[in-house]
Amino acid sequence: MSGIRMKEQIFDTIRHLDENRIVSDEELKELLTTQNEKAIDELLKRARNKALKQFGNKIFIRGLIEISNYCWNDCFYCGIRHGNEKVERYRLTREEILSCCEQGYQLGFRTFVMQSGEDSYWRGKRMEELVSTIRRKYPDCAITLSLGEMTKEMYQRLYDAGANRYLLRHETAEKSHYEKLHPKELSFEQRRQCLLNLREIGFQVGSGFMVGSPYQKLDYLIRDLRFLWELQPHMIGIGPFLSHKDTPFADKENGSLERTVRLIAILRLMFPKSLIPATTALGTIASDGRERGILAGANVVMPNLSPQKDRKKYMLYDNKIATGEEAAEGLERLKERIKAIGYEIITARGDFVS
Ligand code: 5AD
Repeated sequence: MSGIRMKEQIFDTIRHLDENRIVSDEELKELLTTQNEKAIDELLKRARNKALKQFGNKIFIRGLIEISNYCWNDCFYCGIRHGNEKVERYRLTREEILSCCEQGYQLGFRTFVMQSGEDSYWRGKRMEELVSTIRRKYPDCAITLSLGEMTKEMYQRLYDAGANRYLLRHETAEKSHYEKLHPKELSFEQRRQCLLNLREIGFQVGSGFMVGSPYQKLDYLIRDLRFLWELQPHMIGIGPFLSHKDTPFADKENGSLERTVRLIAILRLMFPKSLIPATTALGTIASDGRERGILAGANVVMPNLSPQKDRKKYMLYDNKIATGEEAAEGLERLKERIKAIGYEIITARGDFVS
């Protein structure tokens, strides 16, 4: 095939993805690997326009509260894995969490995301009581949880207590890859089952994966996209893998900024209505990472509301940004940065609208 013919073809593929939301595996691979700058620009531009059409130039904000860095799991990539003895462990108290919510509410946040390692403390009855307290105090806010795997009954009780959304990345849709990233106690099937359970209960569900995690292959990324297509999650979070010095993956190469941005664009075209954050990992790998995510179709940012004193302890990877615009105190600066690229932060709850 001549160069020109090839060139035309990739533009056709991009148009097809834009119009029909789905293209073949081979075409997805081509989109992920092409070095044709014009085609990449076209992909990002179409994704940006898709988000603009759906959401206008509005970016939703979520207040992230990292409620505990205790974790009984030992995921090879994660800085707060159980086996990392260098981590200074903390749990926020009920009062601290409620005060984060109050501060967040005053700043205009209408979604609180409570995230934690898999910790027995912030689970079960204690967590249910916290959720119902927050639900009573802030009836106009969305409560998002990101607390890892649980039984369906536990998820149901948290939902009944007033939680609306749940984030649980599938991490990788290829079983053999999942097993290279996690110890044998963790199961690929169980992870998937959790996501199905959450959806069945009625949560707005968020999933996602790391880009460039060790042993990832191009084929696996295609599988990730296909898995998400089947799941049709309301929220999709992706970020580059970033190594952490005190994990078994200390020496592994970081994921790529460009590939992450390109995947955000593909996801936006596949899932026009989904809520796609410009993640902290993206903001960590490059100082303008989150802006680049937004310009490729992301429409959510999640500033950190956790107490300053504990923020450095929630280090999933080295150099995680923890003091600047990603934090609630930096909200004004974040607003400025977002304004500088033509967007505006809004405080609406920002539920998924089908
Ligand atoms: N690099 C990038 N992302 C990571 N996560 C955990 N460890 C890392 C890392 N080293 C992501 C996982 C998890 C989410 C909370 O953070 O995808 O689901």
